Amino acid sequence: MTAALVKVEKRGQVGLLTLDRPKALNALSNEVIAELATALRAFDADDGIGAVVLTGSEKAFAAGADIGAMSTWSYADVFNQDYLGHDWESLRRIRKPIIAAVAGYALGGGCELAMLCDFIIAAENARFGQPEINLGIIPGFGGTQRLVRAIGKSKAMDMVLTGRMITAAEAELAGLVARVVPVERVLDEAVEAAALIASKSIMSVMMAKECINRAFEMPLDEGLLFERRNFHALFSTDDQKEGMAAFVEKRKPKFTNR
Ligand code: CAA
Repeated sequence: MTAALVKVEKRGQVGLLTLDRPKALNALSNEVIAELATALRAFDADDGIGAVVLTGSEKAFAAGADIGAMSTWSYADVFNQDYLGHDWESLRRIRKPIIAAVAGYALGGGCELAMLCDFIIAAENARFGQPEINLGIIPGFGGTQRLVRAIGKSKAMDMVLTGRMITAAEAELAGLVARVVPVERVLDEAVEAAALIASKSIMSVMMAKECINRAFEMPLDEGLLFERRNFHALFSTDDQKEGMAAFVEKRKPKFTNR
């Protein structure tokens, strides 16, 4: 049996996934992504899990797609397997929130994987970059799309065309990451944020995620209507009754996810 490339743990209601391919700085092979997709789908289906944290090592969240594997592939090889489709593409269909806890390198596919998560908590030593241009290719897992939406055209062009890495501080200024913390705090910070999310009503959490993601795909008019209809729909849940009753009665809500 081969060793797992993704470590799977539960911390209370938080699912914790750790990329574990240290010798290749967590390079994302198809095998790593297949394991990640399987673990994420299992957490998505697990009523005991309210949010997920995805992390790597102190040195690397992930240094990109697996260059060793790609180096010999032809156009037919990548097209015929629809490389970066399938399991890779399926990651964005996970409904529960995923927080990326990023320390060290998040490069190429690693930066793209972090951006596919719902938000990023970065360690002070984190470095983000899209260095594909140095390999004679371009980002292929969302780098030319999500990066622009996250930090705007000028900075995205700078990163993608020059291949330069940016620091955690620059990434926070640009809006790529939500928080920057000391490296020894990054995992706890992400797990605590995930536990806080997991304490809410799962329906409002998942609807909020869907609505925010729609903001990238819909005209404002349609997005506002989508948000308002979901807002209305939440009035049919027990958790809306409980959340508002608890506020009025000055107590903590007990959500049942119904
Ligand atoms: N794929 C495969 N192996 C990788 C890798 C990758 N993306 N990144 C690092 N490794 C391997 C190295 O080959 C090395 O293996 P060996 O010890 O067997 O030689 C090991 O990890 C350690 O790496 P380094 O010795 O290079 O470590 P370093 O500290 O000197 O440098 C680094 C670190 C700057 C991150 C450097 O490893 C690097 O530049 N990596 C490649 C980054 C990159 O180009 N990523 C984009 C990939 S393409 C892509 O992701 C396409 C897409 O959009 C999906």
